[in-house]
Amino acid sequence: MSRINPDERWWHGSVIYQIWPRSFSDGDGDGIGDLRGVLERLDYLNDGSGGGLGVDGIWLSPIFRSPLVDFGYDIESYTDLDPTFGTLADLDELLTEAHSRGVRVLLDLVPNHTSDQHAWFLESRSSLHSAKRDWYRWRDARSDGGPPNNWPSAFSAVGPAWTFDPDTGQYYHHAYSVNQPDLNWDNPEVRKAMLEVVRFWFDRGVDGFRIDVAHRLGKDPEYRDNRPADLQAEPTGPGRRDADWPTALDHLRTLRSVADEYEGRLLVGEVYVLDQSRIVDYVMDGDGLHLAHNFVFLGQPWSSRAFAGTVDEFEEACGPEVEPAWCLNNHDHSRVRSRFDFDGRGEERARAVAMMLLGLRGTVFIYQGEELGLPDSDVPSGSVVDLDGRDPMRTPIPWQPPSLAGLGAGFTTGTPWLPVGATAEHVNVTVEDRQPDSMLTLYRSLIRIRKASPALSGGSYSPVRCDDQLYIFERRSEEEVVVVAINFSTETTDLPLDDIAALEMIASSGPVGAADRLDPLEARWMRRA
Ligand code: GLC
Repeated sequence: MSRINPDERWWHGSVIYQIWPRSFSDGDGDGIGDLRGVLERLDYLNDGSGGGLGVDGIWLSPIFRSPLVDFGYDIESYTDLDPTFGTLADLDELLTEAHSRGVRVLLDLVPNHTSDQHAWFLESRSSLHSAKRDWYRWRDARSDGGPPNNWPSAFSAVGPAWTFDPDTGQYYHHAYSVNQPDLNWDNPEVRKAMLEVVRFWFDRGVDGFRIDVAHRLGKDPEYRDNRPADLQAEPTGPGRRDADWPTALDHLRTLRSVADEYEGRLLVGEVYVLDQSRIVDYVMDGDGLHLAHNFVFLGQPWSSRAFAGTVDEFEEACGPEVEPAWCLNNHDHSRVRSRFDFDGRGEERARAVAMMLLGLRGTVFIYQGEELGLPDSDVPSGSVVDLDGRDPMRTPIPWQPPSLAGLGAGFTTGTPWLPVGATAEHVNVTVEDRQPDSMLTLYRSLIRIRKASPALSGGSYSPVRCDDQLYIFERRSEEEVVVVAINFSTETTDLPLDDIAALEMIASSGPVGAADRLDPLEARWMRRA
């Protein structure tokens, strides 16, 4: 029986867990994670009766048929699953089981590009006169025979975003690897084909999509050079011509119109622009994306002023109507635990900043392993497989200590496709499950408290204080006020709140000392009755 929350805007205030399926849990022992593995672990995420992490939704990184050059972000068929991950029957079962626990399921739509093995591209490249020639971005060489313009691939190892096809004498555009040709969204047939894909999955019961590089759907139709200042490949800055062109918003509106034919479906875009008011443009007006990921945190230094500044600016740009979508980690970036480990105190920082994240207004995305405090893993050079250096944040989830479960650490009974990280003996689900002060225990309790708190799940945001040490903000609903205070410094710091004696402590990132002081790198949630 489905326990899906009937609220049409179910994602407001919710927590969504990103699964990178290849490394989450392996159900068939081949060393690679799959949908059977996800099914076996659903209770860990939410058992439907108050146990588990308590997440409201899961987002599965791509599971479609793919040569897996970019681990599924190179799709060969949008309506078939890759056998590595399982069958459509497995996905149907996952939808039923997740829904019976009240958990929504998002798939990862990669509309900007396909695999070069997709039938559309094979047809497109077959001849200058192919009916699908214009489905991709083919251009003539410059007069000197070089690529049509200076657009770079987002993968620095790839270089230019153009590859010459000797058979038809033109270049094709690929914002990522040579095996990921960009679709031409300005062609109405491409849009129509993608809308059919989206309907196919909505009809099957999928609750929404994370839309890969949503801002790249629009590009300068004149293919002008990027200006030298804009040549940095990613993230995308203002004025770029190979991404974030105004047509991107039109194309996303088209996708939204299909989502609106169904109930409660969510479109969340990977909008990799760092201008926060521009991020809001993607969700404004109620007919664009429902949510757009904000990636500013991912490139920020450890600084109270940096974090507070980002939140304040974004809250201001959003206003009360627009729901922010916050995250600290994903499969493309160094994990928080390692990012802030410059003096060996990465774990304390990861705990403190988790309290900030889960204290914020908006939809919160967490990436598998974040709840365990997993660091980036050292991947030996002989095991490197990713073309853009992202293996360290993609190693398998350790479910058990290797001393008990072998090298697969409970992730697989076979040989893991990437080695499990060296910390697996103590950073793993089984060990952390029992420890009252583990990262897992902290995430579970923060999500539980957030859910039960009207202020934290749906209240307004207002800044209270920011200085070189502290970032303090308030969440306010009709029923309650929750104060969130984070000490970014490695010094004990006074809590400058007038009514400190009247505040009830509801969570802390570490052992609690004096009521009116925060220990180094400590964060607290306090309720004002
Ligand atoms: C997004 C994905 C990344 C992928 C790229 C190309 O940025 O998050 O993993 O490589 O798009 O699809």
